[in-house]
Amino acid sequence: MASTALVTGASSGIGKEFAKQLASRNILPVLASRNVEKLNGLKAEIEAEFGISAEVIPIDLSVPGSAGTLYEECETRGLDIDILINNAGVGMFGASMDQDPRTIEGMLTLNIVSLTTLSSRFAARMKEKGRGHILNVGSFAGNQPTPYFASYAASKRYVHDFSLALRRELKHTGVRVTCLVPGFVSTSFDANAGIGNPAYLKLSSRGSLPPAAVAKIGLRAMFKGKARVTAGIANKVLVFVVALIPSRPKAAIIHAGMGWIIR
Ligand SMILES: NC(=O)c1ccc[n+]([C@@H]2O[C@H](COP(=O)([O-])OP(=O)(O)OC[C@H]3O[C@@H](n4cnc5c(N)ncnc54)[C@H](OP(=O)(O)O)[C@@H]3O)[C@@H](O)[C@H]2O)c1
Repeated sequence: MASTALVTGASSGIGKEFAKQLASRNILPVLASRNVEKLNGLKAEIEAEFGISAEVIPIDLSVPGSAGTLYEECETRGLDIDILINNAGVGMFGASMDQDPRTIEGMLTLNIVSLTTLSSRFAARMKEKGRGHILNVGSFAGNQPTPYFASYAASKRYVHDFSLALRRELKHTGVRVTCLVPGFVSTSFDANAGIGNPAYLKLSSRGSLPPAAVAKIGLRAMFKGKARVTAGIANKVLVFVVALIPSRPKAAIIHAGMGWIIR
């Protein structure tokens, strides 16, 4: 029987590439995000290109309780999820005190709470079956305190640590948890994070990888059962360097760098 994969944030960027690459492996993708037109467009594209069906579940995962609703909808439709890809996420750029608290709460619900609920509930089902994969999308920003991306970066640090901890809890169950850590990726992420600063955009576009390449790295690591993968050689080197610096000076260095970029 063909496998089934739930991909959150499937309407664009890395998530869209996850869905297409899964379909190319004959895995039925379940596409979840808010924009139903985009999801239906992707479903048609997948069906035409790969001759495999796709399911569409429109959902806003920044709403409290929505992850439970998504889980129930999969159950109601009889979708037996073998692979969960927690990819949906947004960033918020700028000084924390200038940001709308309700928007921050929505971001944290999406990036942290929904990811946690989906991981826990699907992990329980997968554990019963004795097999399954969970791929959580973190971020290079989650490797250190990141001024002007403070709550986003901290939410991704949560994703990194939660993924490793859940992986240990699921050891010897046949369920593997992998965390993908992308650096800059050429998607609509920067625009959606409210970044209009030309200097920052120049920096991020110069160092960015295409979403298809990042999705491929994530899926390869997931199918190999790896705990964590950083996307791209340059980012791997940076991770090594950044790990040598203690957190407080790291925050000061990034604050100075960001301050220079956004001045
Ligand atoms: N691009 C980068 O530089 C970068 C770097 C590191 C990590 N990441 C991470 O990679 C992941 C994918 O981002 P991306 O770069 O592919 O950005 P993107 O192109 O903006 O895609 C974000 C996806 O998340 C979905 N989404 C946003 N808000 C949602 C909500 N409230 N409920 C459900 N779905 C929602 C969007 O779909 P709808 O609009 O249809 O809801 C979209 O499909 C994120 O977790 C992000 O933090 C990105």
